[in-house]
Amino acid sequence: MHLGVNIDHIAVLREARKSGDPDPLDALGICKRAGANQITIHLREDRRHIQDSDAIHIMKHSFLPVNLECAIAPEMIDIACTLKPHRVTLVPEKREEVTTEGGLAILDTQPLFLEAVKKLQQNEIEVSLFIDPDFDTVKKAKALGAEWIEFHTGKYANLYAMLYGNLSKTHHSIPEFELPRKTLNRMLKKELETLAQLSGEAAKMGLKVAAGHGLNYQNVKPVVAIEAIEELNIGQSIIARSVFTGLEQAILDMKTLLAR
Ligand code: PXP
Repeated sequence: MHLGVNIDHIAVLREARKSGDPDPLDALGICKRAGANQITIHLREDRRHIQDSDAIHIMKHSFLPVNLECAIAPEMIDIACTLKPHRVTLVPEKREEVTTEGGLAILDTQPLFLEAVKKLQQNEIEVSLFIDPDFDTVKKAKALGAEWIEFHTGKYANLYAMLYGNLSKTHHSIPEFELPRKTLNRMLKKELETLAQLSGEAAKMGLKVAAGHGLNYQNVKPVVAIEAIEELNIGQSIIARSVFTGLEQAILDMKTLLAR
């Protein structure tokens, strides 16, 4: 299974001090050496981590294909068309969010998306839509002409963390926290089944399927077991582990878990 390493989190650390390091550019060789298949970066409209100059340098120097995540705003689509990554993943963005909290709302905004998808594809960039695991949304992604979908695994990851991990009740006001473990277990199982079923349906429609958000060394295996998912994009957990093990080892450890 392919791994896209989301190196935004290196820039998050740099921007905390507005200093020169750590520089996401220094990750490119390490990612390649460790067997990553893709570099993923999110150029946010508020530029809170990856900057335009990062994107330009990463595009120029990456040894691996670059998957650029961005919002559907015309300015961002223009930047993407200039950068020409091999893929653009369109993601929703809210300025106040800590991270991308859900999938795209493509059901009601078709013309905007059609235009963006067409423009990117005219520039020979393949398009992925970051969506919640929902059948109507998968069908809509197909109708919009995207080559890829990426399922938002945030709900799965949250449920997993509530059951087995260290998600803090104080920091996350998630209503599910109040539910009994048995219910959470059932919800987790259902979420995985939905992911598996929709991934299969999407693949049958001719879509390539990726997944990501909140995946880590603890919760990734059941997602890897879903055959129709070809690629995972993982950031936070890899960069967090790299503080202790170094980035190369952190990627190698994840690649081991992704082996089928
Ligand atoms: N995929 C997409 C589309 C994302 O927006 C993110 C979050 O930046 C990720 C994958 C990676 O999520 P995480 O950092 O939680 O692994």
